Amino acid sequence: MSDNSVIVLIGYMGCGKSSVGKKLSQKLNVKFLDLDSVIEKKYSKSISQIFNDLGEIKFRSIENSELNSVLSNYKNCVLSLGGGTPCYHDNMRLILSYTTNVFFIDVNSEILSERLFKKKEKRPLISSIDTIEEMKQFINKHYFERRQFYSMATHSITSNRNDSENVVKEILSLLN
Ligand code: S3P
Repeated sequence: MSDNSVIVLIGYMGCGKSSVGKKLSQKLNVKFLDLDSVIEKKYSKSISQIFNDLGEIKFRSIENSELNSVLSNYKNCVLSLGGGTPCYHDNMRLILSYTTNVFFIDVNSEILSERLFKKKEKRPLISSIDTIEEMKQFINKHYFERRQFYSMATHSITSNRNDSENVVKEILSLLN
């Protein structure tokens, strides 16, 4: 690794942050952390339960404080964030104050919609969307709104196929 600061992966739900993160951390032989899993472990609840019991505003504040805590406690690791993490509480500025290794995995919204429609249950923001058409409409608009935050990343990597191996290779080449 070029330096030992944390490598942060960001991008919309379903873009492959976790699978890329796991593979990348194996290649680099460093720890892998997933912010949602850190939160679930700490609160002994799933993200959906936290949304349900405490609401999204409280979830965003928990997310911000766990992000702070991970960034201040870990170096030399790969950290994958939730799709919304960069978009709240000035989190992008916080992340960039710790590391320049910030990678946005950019997948087009049509592909994301197809993927997410099949895996919506665990995702409280989209779990009640009933049709693929509604899913496309929602994600198109939502992704557009979030892009301004994602594009603050140091590097953007387009990944429209299920090609996490290639994304890992690209990240490794940008790191070295
Ligand atoms: C969210 C994305 C989820 C999770 C929560 C909210 C979002 O993470 O943090 O459901 O706002 O996009 P994934 O991107 O890992 O699905």
